[in-house]
Amino acid sequence: MNFSQHTALVTGANRGIGLALVKSLLAQGIKKVYAGCRNPSSMPEFTDPRVEVVPLDITNAGHIHAVAERVTDLTLLINNAGIIAAGPFTTTPSSEVKRDMDTNYYGPLAITQALIPTLRSNARSERHTALVNVTSIGAFANLPVLGGYCASKAALLSMSQGLRIELASDNIDVFTVNPGPIDTDMTAGSDFDKTSPDVAAANTLQALERGEQDIFPDPASQHMISVFKENYRGLEAIFSQMTADISAAEGAEPA
Ligand SMILES: NC(=O)c1ccc[n+]([C@@H]2O[C@H](COP(=O)([O-])OP(=O)(O)OC[C@H]3O[C@@H](n4cnc5c(N)ncnc54)[C@H](OP(=O)(O)O)[C@@H]3O)[C@@H](O)[C@H]2O)c1
Repeated sequence: MNFSQHTALVTGANRGIGLALVKSLLAQGIKKVYAGCRNPSSMPEFTDPRVEVVPLDITNAGHIHAVAERVTDLTLLINNAGIIAAGPFTTTPSSEVKRDMDTNYYGPLAITQALIPTLRSNARSERHTALVNVTSIGAFANLPVLGGYCASKAALLSMSQGLRIELASDNIDVFTVNPGPIDTDMTAGSDFDKTSPDVAAANTLQALERGEQDIFPDPASQHMISVFKENYRGLEAIFSQMTADISAAEGAEPA
């Protein structure tokens, strides 16, 4: 992927990994970036004229429709926005599990469906366009302290796999980014070893440039996916041990 030929939309671009991706795309010479965020007043000031802020709550059909009308030059959609409801399946209210699913799965699905005609049409003139879904290493196995969240990311990973096959003949390339713990507001208060969002974003763009379809942008996710590739139950074993460690640290009996 040559970023200088792309016009991107990044969802959840006002902070965390999304903001780091916008900065990295600019550094890599992107033609233009639409920076999507729920509340434009929360967007840091960008002096770069290539950045255009677009109001976008990915669970709001009106916002999605307005964005689809506006970003007719789009060639690279990055579904980054996400939320997390911490807690195991046994105790997390189903309304919170549903909220994760609405934001982390149905939101990216809705915006992708709305923008596929644009990506398809621009792929005809630009040769290739691309869709990038930010899932999680927790999409590959469930970490019970984040039960519903991991399930929503597994759904997003599955959607990405399906779209990769579905959109291949349209020359729309589908990528997944599957981070481990990254040092953003989402992981504030957890004491995992974390990678900085700037490093994760830079690694993601380098992997996109190399054409890697499934990207693991930090040392933790790289280690975990290597265990998973050897034996898919191996990642479950790592998450089981992490659950026991968290329970022990909280002074509770391990589940
Ligand atoms: N941090 C990690 O360890 C980690 C690991 C694996 C995967 N991920 C994934 O990476 C992505 C970015 O996470 P992050 O760590 O950067 O989290 P973050 O710092 O909490 O940022 C989340 C971003 O998503 C936006 N967002 C939430 N709900 C939205 C909605 N309905 N519509 C539009 N934007 C919405 C937030 O906007 P507001 O400011 O308006 O809330 C914010 O910009 C997420 O998909 C997350 O699941 C993160």
